Amino acid sequence: MAIREIVKYGDECLRKKCKPVDEITKRTKILIDDMLDTLYEANGCGLAAPQVGVLKRICVIDVGDGPVVMINPQILSQEGEVEEMEGCLSNPGKWGVVKRPQKVVATALDKNGEVKVYEAEGLFARAICHELDHLDGVLFIDKVIGELKIGD
Ligand code: NI
Repeated sequence: MAIREIVKYGDECLRKKCKPVDEITKRTKILIDDMLDTLYEANGCGLAAPQVGVLKRICVIDVGDGPVVMINPQILSQEGEVEEMEGCLSNPGKWGVVKRPQKVVATALDKNGEVKVYEAEGLFARAICHELDHLDGVLFIDKVIGELKIGD
């Protein structure tokens, strides 16, 4: 397990569409372990593979209920709308209000290749939407309503 460098805004990796994972190899598992280490070290609640320079459809999320690994994630349905402040480890010190669904149902493979379905609300739903955007080269700053705020 290792900490990887988080690529920052301006790096072209953050603007690429990521490729699906077709086989969960030993290398994939090492990447996932490293992404979790990197997420916890950075005190974030989500991290997508392109944020460590890997253009694969993988993200890790922990909103306080333990780690969730999502491989080839997809949103199946969504409901409601919430406007909340959001930030990103690739845009340190920048914050802004983004409109996201209140609830999402999402599916993904876990680290062992098993299909999981998540019924997410609130921060978990927001984190899923934010990380899935990363896999398509979309950043939260593209969606900020009003002013982008600078601060810790
Ligand atoms: Ni982000």
